[in-house]
Amino acid sequence: MLDWEHIFATRSGRMRASEIRELLKLLDQPDIISFAGGIPDPALFPDAAFKDAYSDIFSSAQVGSALQYSVSEGYKPLREWIARDVAKIGIDCTPDNVFITSGSQQALDYLGKLFLSPKDTALVTWPTYLGALSAFNAYEPNYDQLSLNGNRTPGAYRDTAAKAGGAVKFAYLSADFSNPTGETIELAGREKLLALADELDIAILEDAAYQHLRYDGQAIPPIMALDIARNGGIENTRTIYCGSFSKTLAPGLRVGFVVAAMPVIRKLVLMKQAADLHSSTINQIAIEHVASRGFDAQVAKIKAVYSKRRDAMLAALDKYMPKNTTWTRPEGGMFVWVTLPEGMDGAELLAKSIATEKVAFVPGKAFYADGRNANTLRMSFSCADEAMIDEGIKRLGRLISNAIRAAA
Ligand SMILES: Cc1ncc(COP(=O)(O)O)c(C=O)c1O
Repeated sequence: MLDWEHIFATRSGRMRASEIRELLKLLDQPDIISFAGGIPDPALFPDAAFKDAYSDIFSSAQVGSALQYSVSEGYKPLREWIARDVAKIGIDCTPDNVFITSGSQQALDYLGKLFLSPKDTALVTWPTYLGALSAFNAYEPNYDQLSLNGNRTPGAYRDTAAKAGGAVKFAYLSADFSNPTGETIELAGREKLLALADELDIAILEDAAYQHLRYDGQAIPPIMALDIARNGGIENTRTIYCGSFSKTLAPGLRVGFVVAAMPVIRKLVLMKQAADLHSSTINQIAIEHVASRGFDAQVAKIKAVYSKRRDAMLAALDKYMPKNTTWTRPEGGMFVWVTLPEGMDGAELLAKSIATEKVAFVPGKAFYADGRNANTLRMSFSCADEAMIDEGIKRLGRLISNAIRAAA
């Protein structure tokens, strides 16, 4: 077999198989209770609405253009729909400020490519979305911990970046119901981030994949909306808002989007022309068809189901987890983040859990840019019903209690 390593580019050295992707294979085993994949429940997909959408497309004169190449910016009526939808949360923009991507994952790849030269620094929350680290890794950055409690000065970030051989280019975060912790950044934290970004003169990448999935509590304006309000319009902003239809409608169509000032959009369009020309024309048309006829009803439907599952998971954790474990209480999204006693290892626990209790979750270590905090677990409640959640957490609680006792 050829030794490929010396032929591959250096950037390929940081491309590693994701633990999550490997774990998703477990979902195929019927006897596993899986809290591992952070994916929507397929039973909640608006499949009848999509059937109508494709049927309408195929029985109309639009079929020719739906199957044809299209513009790199994306399907205009969809961009118009998105501009109207984000306006409801204070993101005042034109359809030209909206750029369609093949899932928001593609936006993360493009933004990594747009901003990061090798050795530049990306500020990320610790933990952060693993898929963002995978996307950025290809551009050979350094990571530094984004802290919003004011314990680091802009100069400290700058110095760390200079020591790593580059400059700070952006801060990436999910402000609402983050993957993996489910936590939300309060208004004061969002304001602090804008002030820090101003001082460092960097971009803010706001990942809003879970934005629509708020089950309770008060909605907080997106960072992009605050930026627009502070700076008198989208063209003066430094925030780049990444949205997705994956968690609300269906991920299989691969339709996401970016909202940003025109200089950023123009670069993204050039990147798309070079990468894949445009996202699937017919899928963009189908998404617009379904969204414009029933987006709010679909979101209400999934929120009703997911919020009950979130409640079931929190109740089960209260009931079954040993005293010295803690967890987040998310107001939305799909995840609860569990912290085990110091010294325990989520990956070791997973191996035991699958072998003896048939329960899967994602060890938390993978979500840290520096691989720290092995004593954490990401638990998704999106795909298990309430009875399964109770049973799965009961088994996990038993396993963790035994492991704590054994270590004592
Ligand atoms: C925080 C976050 N961002 C982005 C994505 C990518 O989603 P998609 O490419 O399907 O829009 C995900 C998927 O799980 C996610 O959790």
